[in-house]
Amino acid sequence: MAHLLITGGAGFIGSHTCLVLLEAGHSLAVLDNFTNSSPESLRRVVELAGPSAGRRLEVVRGDVRSHEDLKQAFEVAPVDGVLHFAGLKAVGESMSQPLRYWDTNVGGSRSLLSAMAAHDCRTLVFSSSATLYGYPDTVPIPESAPVRPINPYGHTKAAVERMLGDLAASEPGWRIACLRYFNPVGAHPSGRIGEDPNGIPNNLFPFISQVAVGRRACLDVFGGDWPTADGSGVRDYIHVMDLAEGHLATLDALLTSGEQLLTLNLGSGRGYSVLEVINTFRAISGKAVPYTIASRRDGDAAITVADPQLAEQRLGWKTKRNLHDICRDGWAWQQANPKGYSR
Ligand SMILES: NC(=O)c1ccc[n+]([C@@H]2O[C@H](COP(=O)([O-])OP(=O)(O)OC[C@H]3O[C@@H](n4cnc5c(N)ncnc54)[C@H](O)[C@@H]3O)[C@@H](O)[C@H]2O)c1
Repeated sequence: MAHLLITGGAGFIGSHTCLVLLEAGHSLAVLDNFTNSSPESLRRVVELAGPSAGRRLEVVRGDVRSHEDLKQAFEVAPVDGVLHFAGLKAVGESMSQPLRYWDTNVGGSRSLLSAMAAHDCRTLVFSSSATLYGYPDTVPIPESAPVRPINPYGHTKAAVERMLGDLAASEPGWRIACLRYFNPVGAHPSGRIGEDPNGIPNNLFPFISQVAVGRRACLDVFGGDWPTADGSGVRDYIHVMDLAEGHLATLDALLTSGEQLLTLNLGSGRGYSVLEVINTFRAISGKAVPYTIASRRDGDAAITVADPQLAEQRLGWKTKRNLHDICRDGWAWQQANPKGYSR
């Protein structure tokens, strides 16, 4: 079993991945400054993972940009590998606060990599994003598609991927995976952990569930005139538990192989339109989800769907859950926690 450092492990994707890693028997040090999360998520992860898990999860409250905080996290136990989730992820905010995004996402990754080298740890799974494809020429999108981000958030992800490529080329021994997530949604089926965004949700799914639970009045659907079957945008939604299992498979692949630099899409390969998501959510929750069609948002593409074949070949992993599972589990979480972790 490995000892792993998880940056940003209290967040949405990090918390679900921590659970899967604990269930696989690994021990974890989580470094998080809780800027967009709550320690409560990790408390519940331990509760779900069972009696021995509390002894295998150490939380270090700290910043991934801080040399001292990183040192503390690396000193919990010798680290076999790092999963790097910590970062800022709101596209709109990245346009108004680009330096904050470059500082946290790029500066934070640079500090982490220096600390890894100093502690002789060269195995890393990095949370990249399909955002870096910008407006894709072809759909489904293979990993070989041009990297052409169209907003500061996407620029920071592309910059970190470049930094990792330079590092892997500069000295032997690095085992790195850049995972380009499509649209992570849903929640653990227990309804105990899920997505709890601060303020107004940035993404479709938490918005729908907050409307359904009565926290918000109405949903804006951005664009009803896209060249798609029903005019709304089409996205590849991936259940967060599939994504978490994808991280476990990636880690296994890195830890059991020689040095390498892997770049993989994590998506389902199946697209659903915004209106399909709303209708499925309504059917499962039995709740009204009032919406209005608003104008298109800058930076949105009509259709974004992964070509997931490379991940299946390299990891033996593919998604198992569908839109029905996503809506059922996301709704269970929202119903049980209408105000997220703050109750
Ligand atoms: N959720 C998505 O739609 C999506 C899609 C593609 C890629 N990603 C990437 O996946 C990663 C995780 O995303 P998420 O949805 O779980 O986001 P999240 O905001 O829920 O989790 C990020 C975590 O990082 C922590 N954090 C932020 N800045 C930090 C810092 N300087 N030091 C220490 N901790 C810090 C936050 O407190 C939070 O717990 C991010 O890097 C994000 O860019 C997310």
